[in-house]
Order: sequence, then structure tokens, then C-alpha cells
Amino acid sequence: MAEIIDGKAISSQIKEEAKLEAAELSKKNITPCLAVVLVGDDPASQVYVRNKKKACEFCGIRSLSYELSADTSEAELLTLIDKLNADKDCNGILVQLPLPKHIDENKVLLRILPEKDVDGFHPYNVGLLSIGKASLKACTPAGCIELIKRSGVDITGKNCVVVGRSNIVGKPVGMLLLSENGTVTTCHSKTRDIGGICRNADILIAAVGIPKFIKEDMVKEGVVVIDVGINRGADNKLTGDVDFENVSKKASYITPVPGGVGPMTIAMLMKNCIIACKAQNNIE
Ligand code: GUN
Repeated sequence: MAEIIDGKAISSQIKEEAKLEAAELSKKNITPCLAVVLVGDDPASQVYVRNKKKACEFCGIRSLSYELSADTSEAELLTLIDKLNADKDCNGILVQLPLPKHIDENKVLLRILPEKDVDGFHPYNVGLLSIGKASLKACTPAGCIELIKRSGVDITGKNCVVVGRSNIVGKPVGMLLLSENGTVTTCHSKTRDIGGICRNADILIAAVGIPKFIKEDMVKEGVVVIDVGINRGADNKLTGDVDFENVSKKASYITPVPGGVGPMTIAMLMKNCIIACKAQNNIE
């Protein structure tokens, strides 16, 4: 039976660490500040944004909130980003995704100054990540790595299999595992024999967005499983990409859904706000 990786507990530790760092900065009269921008009224995004603001409050990070109507034009949003880029007191800018269809997401992400890109989505930061030099790493992938390392699992030399190749999880988590000296294979919808490849994994990251996609016959005994899936069923219940009940009988470590990767994203965002603030103030 697997040991369950407690994402809530680990994310609390990370937020405590961010809080301590914010307190150190306040001794120098510096208050880290994050601007959170939400366009439209998607209920899930509203919940995420509310939780991000709550985490800021806990850590001692000032948050600026911009809640714009769904008919905000791309030009108006870009003007707001320019204003926040120029604001010396604002260290991080987060534009909640998805954006309404009439706004070009890539154009918006490109406009955020890389040093304020606390989501780690700007192509400049993605490039740094791919050469192992990023300071602002995408939050969910960085959270997966923290869950593995803080469980005492060494990634070096392990067969790491990532299922899913999205720009916000699959690709960056593969890069991070490679930086940690893992041997990385990325599977996707066109991959032949996904089961065979997954059965070879010492560490398996599931980020496909298909409920219970990873079944017990696709994993080997002792595998470490990180489930990034958040699939909401018709009954509003959350299900991961892994068949937890059965896979947990074979795994050595496994993250639950909810309470695994989910809480880590916001904790890593808080950490990124501190990193951005320190860099902008030439600290360390
Ligand atoms: N929408 C879903 N996940 C994320 C995230 O990590 N950052 C932002 N900005 N939007 C999201």
C-alpha cells in the first residue's frame, strides 16, 4: 500500500517559508506585491483568484486585484499590463487563464515583463527552464518536483514518464525532471503502447485530463505517482487522471485528488512572488 503524499501539508510548509521570507523583506521596508488580473466571470477562475489572494494575505504579500468584465478588449488588457510592468511597487503579474475568446492569450503572456512573470509562462522563462537556468518556474510543474523531493525520493537516474504534453504542465515538468537528472519519456495521444512505457516508470506524472486514465495494469510495483488531473464530474466531484483506489495498491508513493498537486500551485506562486521581489530589489 502506497504512502500518500500530503499536498496540503507540504504546500502549508512552503507557504510558511514564503511568509518567513516576506517578514525578512519587511525588515528592509519591502513588501512583495502581486497583481492578479481576472477577465470575465468564469466561476472556477473566480475560485482560483480568491484562493490566490487569500494565500497572499497569509504570507504577507500585498495583492492588487483587477476584475475586468468579459467584454474587456485586448487593447485595454494590454494597457493594464503595461501599467503594471511600469509600477515599481508591483513585483508579480498573474493573468488568470483562460481568457475570453476575443483575446489572444499568447500576446498577453508575451506582454508581461519576464521578471514579473510569476506564472513562468513567458517564452523567455520557458526558454530558461529548458536550459536549466530558470528562476521563475511554472508553478504546477515546480510543485510536482517539490512533492517528489520532499517525500525523500531522489530523481537522479530514475525512469520518469510524463503522460501529457501541454505547455503549462507536461512539457515543463519533463524539463524539470531532466534538470533533476531523471531519464524522461513524454507520452501523448499519438504514443504507441502507453501502457508498456508507463510500466517502465519509476516516477509517473499523469497530466492528460482524462479521469482515471492510469490503471493498475499500467504501473509497476513501487512506482511514485504524481496525479496532476483535476477532472470535475457531473456530480461536481473531483477525480484525478489516476485510478487511485487500485494504483495505490502497487505504488510506493501517490498523490491524492484533491489534496495532492492542487494546493501546490498556489504555494509555488507565493514562492515565485518572493523570488521576483528579491530579484527586483537586488537581494541575493
Ligand atoms: N488557469 C489554470 N491554471 C492556471 C495557472 O496556473 N495560472 C494562471 N494564470 N491561470 C491558470
